[in-house]
Amino acid sequence: MASELKVQISVDVLEPQELTAEERQAIQVAQEAANDAYAPYSNFLVGAALVLEDGTMFKGSNQENAAYPSGLCAERTALFALSAHHPKAKIKLLAVTARRRQEKDFLPAMPCGACRQVMAEYEYKQQKPIPVLLQALDGKFYRFKSVADLLPFQFNKEHL
Ligand code: THU
Repeated sequence: MASELKVQISVDVLEPQELTAEERQAIQVAQEAANDAYAPYSNFLVGAALVLEDGTMFKGSNQENAAYPSGLCAERTALFALSAHHPKAKIKLLAVTARRRQEKDFLPAMPCGACRQVMAEYEYKQQKPIPVLLQALDGKFYRFKSVADLLPFQFNKEHL
């Protein structure tokens, strides 16, 4: 009989008051970033915040394009900009949130597959887990311990 591999991940489900002060600040920066999104086509505003090891925050938002596939998600905008400007910076936390333009409440923000792959690249590069904090339903938050939990069986440099 074929052997079976069970993959288990655990995710913290948190109320806002259960976030650390730094996580709360990261979500606030991500929400501010979402307000800066350039999303005239989807009107879906996504914001990402990166907390660096020295505590500084770096943000990104989705940037759309009339040629739709030329646009880029908030997470990758933030990660690529960070790596371009501060190639040695190490990331301590990645926070993501989203909202519809006409609504003030923030919505669950589940990173797309391509963004997970890019997150995995930078996690591999820094050789230290990047915790990911996501806006979830009903004002709650999901805290993943690392990008690897969001992308099991990932393809990375080791597979080349
Ligand atoms: N989007 C992100 O910015 N991040 C994701 O992980 C999912 C989707 C953006 C892309 C597009 O501008 C809009 O949300 C609708 O898909």
